[in-house]
Amino acid sequence: MKITVVGAGAVGASCAEYIALKDFAAEVVLLDIKEGFAEGKAMDLMQTASLNGFDTKITGVTGDYSLTAGSHVAVITSGIPRKPGMTREELIGINAGIVKDVATQLVAHSPEVILIVVSNPMDTMTYLAHKSLGLPKHRIIGMGGALDSARFKYRLAEALGAPISDVDGMVIGGHSDTGMVPLIRLATRNSIPVHTFLETAQLDEIVEQTKVGGATLTKLLGTSAWYAPGAAVSSMVQAIACDQKKVFPCSVMLDGQYGFEDICLGVPVVIGKKGIEQIIEIELSPEEKTKMKDSADGVRSVNDLLQL
Ligand code: LAC
Repeated sequence: MKITVVGAGAVGASCAEYIALKDFAAEVVLLDIKEGFAEGKAMDLMQTASLNGFDTKITGVTGDYSLTAGSHVAVITSGIPRKPGMTREELIGINAGIVKDVATQLVAHSPEVILIVVSNPMDTMTYLAHKSLGLPKHRIIGMGGALDSARFKYRLAEALGAPISDVDGMVIGGHSDTGMVPLIRLATRNSIPVHTFLETAQLDEIVEQTKVGGATLTKLLGTSAWYAPGAAVSSMVQAIACDQKKVFPCSVMLDGQYGFEDICLGVPVVIGKKGIEQIIEIELSPEEKTKMKDSADGVRSVNDLLQL
């Protein structure tokens, strides 16, 4: 199984590292446009192999997509990350051109590839990939909900004083500070609804902290986060590579599900060897439906900025 990760910046390199640590892929090709950068990251990571005990071969490449040929899965992290005070949406001008070019080159060399889009504004970049490539819908997946849900679980565990492994929760909607819809109603501590343990004000606080999870880190770090984004993507890659049929909220092209069409938005899906194997429609409360509608309106307003 060959995996390509485009963009050897912090998110791409973390993603390659976590894929290697999980040791399920034969090869990871790390590609960047900056001369020697991906080669350097790949060499550094390969020098951890004997220490960390993995056999995945990580190859660094400067701009030569022919070396990505035959990839089963490709992750697009290219583009600029946000700086403190910026929204993900402000990145569209630069990132749209990059993502379109990268996606086109990847598919030219790996016609059967499954693409995972990470670049921001992610829902719009995923939509752009669909519109410009015209691949079957199940082969282009946006990564946002897996990360936002991990941040949600972190906040839930913190407030509950519980281990994260006891906590379950999911964030759907757009991957933006205003578009995320953390499903607090369905969040549980070992199957028990979290509202059994927490007051409404605490639940509201968790929802707010989750929505600005990325912005909080951007402020602290001076650039956007990488460990949790890298881990979230690597889990999705593993679900495809190992045909796990795992459920993640992902940004997918909707075709009437949840009442939306012609938009990529985060909803729960089953991920396996074909990519998106099922879109799961859960019953939402009237309040959650309103939030999803607002979220979709926000994503559409960013999509409208694309020159398709
Ligand atoms: C974040 C970026 C990856 O949320 O969107 O950290």
